[in-house]
Amino acid sequence: MIATPTTKPHTGKDYLNLTLTATDKLERSPNQSLLPLTAKINDKDHLEIGGCDISALVKQFGSPLYILDEVTLRTACSQYRDGFKTHYPGESQVIYASKAWSCLAVVGVIASEKLGFDVVSGGELYTTEKALAQLGDSSQEIAEKIYFHGNNKSVEELKQAIEIGCTIIVDNWLELETLTQLGNSQSGSSIPILIRLTPGIECHTHEYIRTGHLDSKFGFDPNQLQAVFSYIAQQNVLDCRGLHAHIGSQIFERQPHQDLAGVLVEWLKIGSESGLNLRELNIGGGLGICYTEADDPPSIEEWVKAVSEAVIKACQRCEIPLPKLIAEPGRSLIGSACVTAYTVGSRKEIPQLRTYLAVDGGMSDNPRPITYQSLYRVVLGNRMSAEMTETVTIAGKHCESGDIVIKDAQLPQTHPGDILVIMGTGAYNYSMASNYNRLSRPAAVLVNNGEANLIVRRETYDDLIKQDCLPQRLLP
Ligand code: LLP
Repeated sequence: MIATPTTKPHTGKDYLNLTLTATDKLERSPNQSLLPLTAKINDKDHLEIGGCDISALVKQFGSPLYILDEVTLRTACSQYRDGFKTHYPGESQVIYASKAWSCLAVVGVIASEKLGFDVVSGGELYTTEKALAQLGDSSQEIAEKIYFHGNNKSVEELKQAIEIGCTIIVDNWLELETLTQLGNSQSGSSIPILIRLTPGIECHTHEYIRTGHLDSKFGFDPNQLQAVFSYIAQQNVLDCRGLHAHIGSQIFERQPHQDLAGVLVEWLKIGSESGLNLRELNIGGGLGICYTEADDPPSIEEWVKAVSEAVIKACQRCEIPLPKLIAEPGRSLIGSACVTAYTVGSRKEIPQLRTYLAVDGGMSDNPRPITYQSLYRVVLGNRMSAEMTETVTIAGKHCESGDIVIKDAQLPQTHPGDILVIMGTGAYNYSMASNYNRLSRPAAVLVNNGEANLIVRRETYDDLIKQDCLPQRLLP
């Protein structure tokens, strides 16, 4: 828990004080922090992130605005990377689950921290490859960094992946057979693959983001294990390097991943006994973050240590060498590194019932509350020390009653034009954003050391109609 029970926030400032002392602030695990690690209050009583004043950012780049803190993102990357170096004596690799937020600059920061990438579509693959190429990676380096997921990859996507040479995480029989055919029809080297399995491990998280239970659309059922191994053993064109499983997302317990490690190691042993040279174990992602002060995930290092120890122990038990251990976190790498700034607009007071405070975005830039009933916390970015005296429901501007950003939020008195800052919006916000009601998707800036760089341009109205076609016969 990041807050002691007596520290219920009364001002925005208290959210900063929920963190540890200023000196150890930057060493904290980002996933246990509500605000980005560089959050401060400046002499104007404004929130500052990455040395940039929130109000000034909104003035310069517009509203709503995603503000991504480079230090927090880099800290999370290094805690994963160095955590495995400390706790796992075998080879390890951390790959970023791009689905949390895929864009050129995010790839740029994460690649410079020596992480790889998990992609789940031709589009994410394209984005990642383009970014890595621009950053100067050779085609071999690009191939080694990317793992391609998906439960229904098209033939075109598989060809794209083969062309790039990345590892393909095979999800089902159709894909396995298609890859064999594609491999046989080309003269190149064998195709690197991992096999995704559904381990039958339950975890306590929202039903929609649970993936490891047997009734899941992802991966091979374990009862297919032997058949899959026998099939692969006969295909020279497939180089099956190991196994993968992902059990779900926003998980606070360590036990499910430890159980998963045990199961995957046993399956690696079975694969090796079937004549396959299995040497990689990909444990998936899933570590949770703090969206509210009640959330209590383990730190990145605690999670890495628990997973590493479980793999080591299982390998000793099964008497197999340590595999290359891969983890693919998304949310816990980028979730806490970003906030969304909105501008306050209209207000509706329903006596004895509720006060609605509307902002200039909503479900189009953050569909998580309406999709998963996700909770968020807010601060008034331009008056951080003001006492929270009101309970208001922060509503979006979409034509949909369920378009609520936070129900019953605690805030000081606000006025139109004030800046509300929602915390923990780095993961699955921009990446799930839409143009519902033809709202333009917001801009995103990367902040560090007082500098703010645009990393995603705000969509213009012209962008909104760019893909539209007006058939000739409708014209006068
Ligand atoms: N690996 C695989 C195969 C995955 O399916 C996922 C997430 C991850 C890794 C990364 O999981 P993370 O470390 O981020 O928990 N849109 C939902 C989350 C869906 C997660 C899908 N898979 C949300 O907004 O909560």
